[in-house]
This record gives sequence, structure tokens and C-alpha cells, in this order.
Amino acid sequence: MNVLVVGGAGYIGSHCVRQLLAAGHRPVVVDNLVFGHAKALPTMVRLHRVDLGDEEAVGRILRDEHIDVVMHFAAFAYVGESVTDPLKYYFNNVVATLRLLRAMLAANVKQFVFSSTCATYGVPASMPITELLPQAPINPYGQTKLDVENALKALSRAHGLSFAAFRYFNAAGAAEDGTIGESHNPETHLIPLAIDAAVGRRSALQVFGNDYPTPDGTCLRDYVHVDDLSRAHIAVFDKLSKPGAAHFYNLGTGNPTSVFEVIQAVEKATGKKVPYSVVARRAGDPPALYADSSKAVRELDWRIQYKDIDSIVASAWRWHSRSPNGYG
Ligand SMILES: NC(=O)c1ccc[n+]([C@@H]2O[C@H](COP(=O)([O-])OP(=O)(O)OC[C@H]3O[C@@H](n4cnc5c(N)ncnc54)[C@H](O)[C@@H]3O)[C@@H](O)[C@H]2O)c1
Repeated sequence: MNVLVVGGAGYIGSHCVRQLLAAGHRPVVVDNLVFGHAKALPTMVRLHRVDLGDEEAVGRILRDEHIDVVMHFAAFAYVGESVTDPLKYYFNNVVATLRLLRAMLAANVKQFVFSSTCATYGVPASMPITELLPQAPINPYGQTKLDVENALKALSRAHGLSFAAFRYFNAAGAAEDGTIGESHNPETHLIPLAIDAAVGRRSALQVFGNDYPTPDGTCLRDYVHVDDLSRAHIAVFDKLSKPGAAHFYNLGTGNPTSVFEVIQAVEKATGKKVPYSVVARRAGDPPALYADSSKAVRELDWRIQYKDIDSIVASAWRWHSRSPNGYG
């Protein structure tokens, strides 16, 4: 398949590009490089440095590259910033996405894979989180993703668009060979922050609260390897051939992992202590968030290869130790 990977120079998108190549597909990337890295892409993959909201340019690419399916990873994803600057998020995550979808319909490209998030569930009433739990985001970031999910439902009914929306939990880890990995600026994700603290690239890690009702008092989250995420995106292709198909899947390992357990995994991988200080809880941080991904396992035959936090962190460390300055 010819696959347009929008946001393909970013963290998850670049890993998906690799998996697409390995599975015999032809990925083509659209990315404006606001956060992405051209160096994260193999040289044989064409990168169009274009904004996803540029309908004319995207339409041309869809036609010229004979695209069959679009994967959409491009978004802003800083929860705190979405609260202070919501318009930035609504314009990039919703308005630009609607333009992308309009360009697709005009070019008669009707298969779509969307990066959604567990943040659409807000603070769920029960754990683990199934796809049937109500979606009630508590910040504009999560709301923008839910808005797109709703637009997709309407487009599938009105125009026969077929789509899968994947609600990721915490994407983590790096390519097995350590040649590509996570490089966000600013970085807000726990594993790269803990690695940086361990090797002295930043001062002590802040642990937000150790008085939660969890076994060690710190928050529990669900870390899922970026290559496992990517494989689900390819496994869903078969489901998209039916016009108007609408699929929603949670993607997580289902293993609740505490902040202290992540710190231990980083210490094991790096052989260094992670300096940390416990500070006050952050507003809006639920004690636990972890997935029931049995629907993806059942329907997509999704097999998680990185089942435990140690193997995920070890892969992240291979990337960070090899490329201490990210893509440089
Ligand atoms: N990283 C996670 O743990 C996580 C969890 C849940 C959901 N998600 C979602 O997964 C997707 C990918 O996340 P990521 O961590 O790889 O993010 P990322 O920032 O590394 O990648 C996003 C890419 O999109 C590009 N981009 C952004 N706006 C664009 C625009 N208007 N036009 C063209 N390109 C644009 C950026 O340059 C970047 O390369 C996002 O949609 C995010 O909301 C991520």
C-alpha cells in the first residue's frame, strides 16, 4: 500500500515508517518539522515539508503519490499548554485535521488511521479502561482528539470514509537497534526525563506526589512500546477495506507501572542512580490509568512484544546512550 504518514518525522510516526517499510508498504511523509526530525527518516522515504492544513499541497501529494491510506500522527500534545493556549490546539489538532480530511475526500482517498489518546477518557470511573467507558476529557488536548473522533464518525456515515482511531496510553521506548527514538523539546515524558536525570543531563527528577492510593504511593500508568503501537497501525489495514468502517481501539499493555518502578527500570538499564525529589501532586493527574486492550488483541491479532517495563526502558536507553543529544 502507498501510505501517507502525516507527522511521520515525529516520534511515533518515524517508528511507524520503519515498520511500514519492513512490512513491504511504501510510506510517504508529510511533516512541517515543527517538532519532527528529517534525520529520523530513512533516506529512501520521501519527506514533503508541508503543513497538514495546506489542502492544496496535501491534495496534490495524495494524487501524485497514489496514496491508498493516510495515517495521521501530527498534533500538538502538551496537556498544560493546551490549557493555557487552547486555540493553538484547536487550530492544529482539529481545524488542520478537518482540512486534511477534506483534501482526502476530494482526492477520493477514504482510508484513515488516527492517533487518538487515553486522555479522551478524562478520569475514568473504573480500571482497566475499555473502549466502552464514557469519554469525558478534562483538558483541551484530550477534547481536540475527541472532536476529531466525532468528526470521523460523521464522515464515515456521510461519505463512506473508513477509519481506525487508536487511543494510545503512554508511548515509550525506541527502535530495537537504537538508531531512532524519542526526542521532544521540551521533553515531558517520564522515561527520557529519568534517563536524563540518571546521566546528569538534567537535575533531579520531580516525582509529583507519593501519597496516591497505589501500592507505592506514586501514579500508575501504562507504558506501551512505540514499535508495538506501530504494528497495530499496519494490522488494521484489512479492516479499512470496507467503506464506512469505524473502529476504536485502546493500545496499552494493561500493566499498571508506578513512577518508582520506572525509576528502578532506568537505574537497572543505565547502571546509575536516578536523583529525584517528591513534590506536590499535579492537578488533574488521576492515580491510575491503564488499558484493557483485549479488543485490539482479539480483532487485530495484536501481539505485544515488549511486555514489561524493563525491556521498554532498555530499548529507550540504547537510543539515548547512542544519541545523547537526540537528533542533534
Ligand atoms: N507520545 C505519546 O505518548 C502519545 C500518547 C497518546 C497520543 N499521542 C498522539 O500521537 C501522535 C504522535 O505523537 P508523538 O509523540 O510522535 O508526537 P511528535 O511531536 O513527536 O510528532 C508529531 C509530528 O507532527 C508534526 N506536526 C505537528 N503539526 C503539524 C502540522 N500542522 N503539519 C505538519 N506536521 C505537523 C511535528 O513536526 C512532528 O513531527 C500525536 O497525535 C499525539 O497526540 C501520543
